[in-house]
Amino acid sequence: MITIFETPEHRNVLFHDLSEGSMVQANQHMIIHNGVAMLLDPGGHKTYMKLFSAATGLVAPSAFQHIFFSHQDPDIIAAANGWLMVTDATAYLSALWMRFIPHFGVDELVINRIRPIPDEGMTVDVGGAPMVLLPAHFLHSEGNFQVYDPVAKILYSGDLGTSLGAPYTAVPDFDAHVPYMKPFHERYMPSRRAVARWVNTVARLDVEILAPQHGAYFVGRDLVRRYVDWVAGIDCYLDADVNAYPIPGAPG
Ligand SMILES: [Fe+2]
Ligand SMILES: [Fe+2]
Repeated sequence: MITIFETPEHRNVLFHDLSEGSMVQANQHMIIHNGVAMLLDPGGHKTYMKLFSAATGLVAPSAFQHIFFSHQDPDIIAAANGWLMVTDATAYLSALWMRFIPHFGVDELVINRIRPIPDEGMTVDVGGAPMVLLPAHFLHSEGNFQVYDPVAKILYSGDLGTSLGAPYTAVPDFDAHVPYMKPFHERYMPSRRAVARWVNTVARLDVEILAPQHGAYFVGRDLVRRYVDWVAGIDCYLDADVNAYPIPGAPG
């Protein structure tokens, strides 16, 4: 657990070491403002108990008033039912995914506490601080949001900015970090057009820390700018000049 920003009334905590075994390393984030907490992308069943005990070491369960789900993937939302059962929180999820989430086994008693995020995004008041649920569609999910915390100037970028296998939690050197990000971005992110929309959006935000859901986070405007410039120039999956998929088993 790392505190990545702190003032007397505001704290941003990263849980980076709760994944285990064959599961992809995933970060869980928590924003606390005036004693009210928002949990971001809490993860699946194996993370659930560990995160609950780590998080309740910092704030009481009654402080969990908001849970944010960036998209529908299992490393984000598989334990939604448990979180809604043990807290009184309101959760937020793209309107596109609302009817799919009950397949994870979300109880009828708590499903109404998941609020659909409209495509254009919304703000959520966390203890008096307005957290921005920012559209970032197709990066990589069709209904995908990020969280901008204007107090800490942290952009929680979800799967965008992911690195896998880097032996550190904060990026020390951008160029040396690129190989940990490149394969994921080229396969999981769809296209330059989707990235360009995000780049144009982020240009209007004051971002000091970029904190993804997997791997190391970026501290400082310089590193954040390096990342934005890099991702704006990469070739994503659909940018390749290919018009058909191979047919497995067919003669070449
Ligand atoms: Fe994902
Ligand atoms: Fe993810």
